[in-house]
Amino acid sequence: MVYMTTKKIAPSILSADVMNLERDVKMAEAAGADLFHIDIMDGHFVPNMSFSPSIVEGMRRVTDKPLDVHLMIDNPDEYIRPIVEAGADTIMIHTESTKHIYRSIDLAKSLGVKAGVVVNPGTPLENVKELFPIIDQILVMTVNPGFGGQKFIPGMTKKIQRLDQLRQTSADDDFEIEVDGGINDETIVKCAQAGADIFVAGSYLYNGQPGFEDRVNTLKKLVEE
Ligand code: DX5
Ligand code: ZN
Repeated sequence: MVYMTTKKIAPSILSADVMNLERDVKMAEAAGADLFHIDIMDGHFVPNMSFSPSIVEGMRRVTDKPLDVHLMIDNPDEYIRPIVEAGADTIMIHTESTKHIYRSIDLAKSLGVKAGVVVNPGTPLENVKELFPIIDQILVMTVNPGFGGQKFIPGMTKKIQRLDQLRQTSADDDFEIEVDGGINDETIVKCAQAGADIFVAGSYLYNGQPGFEDRVNTLKKLVEE
């Protein structure tokens, strides 16, 4: 499959101001964000807690942009339906979080949304290759999951490159490559060159206010080059 996808910027609301979330969502929309990335963490699968499924319903009320939900929870199958019903557009599941990743992805897809698998920095692509024909997206973690504001792991660009090569050489594989963790105006260039399509950015965008719009535009320009 030859990829000519539009590159997309996905602000991660983990770094937004929870007391002013609607304002921060509108600000990102006005700045040209393509979709929103929502991290749900349970304090078990990752050593941190964040939003619960109700955040998706709240987000759906204030934006029409696609909602990309990154599940960092044990037993994801239990929460997929409520999250889809709350208005999610894409469900991303860590392969280590479920006993049956193929089934979990099938479940999300059967509910009419896009679905994909998330690979941690230490997870080999070999572990998820069999999923390529059924996924819409694959999320390459470029930090260990659980926290915003961490440093990009440089070795992950090779992984993105290999992934891009794998999808180019198989007619059955048609998925977008998403990257998440430590994305800024330097690392985004490396990821784009390696073949990534969707760029999640949390602290780079939200912790630099004022100047949010400029930052979104900077990222957009860098990936279009
Ligand atoms: C981390 C989360 C990310 C986080 C990224 O586990 O999955 O989505 O918000 O934050 P930054 O862009 O600050 O690394
Ligand atoms: Zn995330």
